[in-house]
Amino acid sequence: MNDSQDREQWASRTGFILATVGSAVGLGNVWRFPTIVARSGGGAFLLLYLVIVLGVGIPLMMSELAMGRRSQRGVVGAFRDLSPGTGWWGAGLVAPLAVFLIASYYSVIAGWTLIFTLLSAAGGLSGLGSDGLTELFAHLTTDTLLPVYGQGAFLILASIIVFYGVSAGIERWGRVLTPGIVVLLLVLLGRVLLLEGGLEGAVWFLTPNFADMSFDVALDALGQVFFSFSLGMGAVLTYGSYLSRRDDIPVNSLIISLADVGIAILAGLVVISALFAFGIEAEAGFGLVFIALPAVFNTLPGAVFWSTVFFLSLSFAAMTSVISFLEVLNALLIEEMGWSRPRAVVTVGVSCFFAGIPSALSEGLMRHVRILGWDIMGFTDMLTSNLILPLSGLLTTVFVAWIWGTRAAGAEVFLGVRRSGAIPLWSFIMKYIAPLALTYILIAGLLS
Ligand code: PHE
Repeated sequence: MNDSQDREQWASRTGFILATVGSAVGLGNVWRFPTIVARSGGGAFLLLYLVIVLGVGIPLMMSELAMGRRSQRGVVGAFRDLSPGTGWWGAGLVAPLAVFLIASYYSVIAGWTLIFTLLSAAGGLSGLGSDGLTELFAHLTTDTLLPVYGQGAFLILASIIVFYGVSAGIERWGRVLTPGIVVLLLVLLGRVLLLEGGLEGAVWFLTPNFADMSFDVALDALGQVFFSFSLGMGAVLTYGSYLSRRDDIPVNSLIISLADVGIAILAGLVVISALFAFGIEAEAGFGLVFIALPAVFNTLPGAVFWSTVFFLSLSFAAMTSVISFLEVLNALLIEEMGWSRPRAVVTVGVSCFFAGIPSALSEGLMRHVRILGWDIMGFTDMLTSNLILPLSGLLTTVFVAWIWGTRAAGAEVFLGVRRSGAIPLWSFIMKYIAPLALTYILIAGLLS
């Protein structure tokens, strides 16, 4: 349980931050966040989201990083080594289950981004207005084979990258690919606010309307924080296990969280403003981003070029996230089952592919399948984000605060850091605020 010499470590601090931001920033920010905002009442959602970021997200991110660094293990081993002989290792199994389910449909959406990159480059989006784009999106996703091909291609690429190992593979990619997306979103924001109705959308998004607040919305916000921060999935924990004891966990957590929230809000602003400007229906659901953003691009000179660069960067953002999914599962198989890396990489890649096929077909061949009123992809998304992740987070919180104990855990979180005021605050949140808030929102949200 100490700083083992043989575990790989991040080659540099920036490398760690960029890779972890790369894991956190992904489709969750650019695709999922705007979709949930549109479905959950704009400003009401935003306010609850921010409160949950502060009260649950950031403290939990610090805890997961500390669990990883202290134990030098993946998620199951971390629970086990920090409380030997207690059976708490079982709590570590929830995370890989969540990761596997998310990887299944996340890779489908990631496949859509690949398809849109190619389509855009070929000029297939050019000149289309929002109606044309809506039709095109429906056409692509209802096709039987195309989404499956996209998903397969994406997983193969990701597996190849993962194959080359932690610092060499992930760090190099994270460093090059994460920043581009921000610049493009800023350009889009500038453009969409100048369109008629755009500003109205931005105002709707930023103004909290207390009448719209409900436990339903709070649960959506909670699920989004987990999804977007990569919490409750063992991803942050696994990355923490490559951290050195010199790294400052609180500061790193703040930087990662700020970047993640900032990019989500930026994407939310662009997409919601575009909905208002073009009169796109929020019902477009999971397709919103693929319709709204090209619509804005098409009002700019050089649309083909810019939208291609955008979807390419979005594919990269999705790639860094998929890499970290795969890494969680691989680390588990390698450490707990003693598998070789190649065997783990191939098995995980192939299983995620097959598990994702129903989601890939959920708008097409299997569109008539409904589970509690959701299509397959919507259901899997809801089940993981709004139930399994918060549950996994609750277990982690209780574990860190009450089993490992805020004393020992706090010493690891704040190792080498002298910010005395923050330690009791973090402990208090972990012991009381986070578990109570999680339980309350989960129960009330599920019942409403
Ligand atoms: N947080 C990522 C996103 O927002 C998704 C993710 C989840 C990545 C879990 C890694 C692990 O897209």
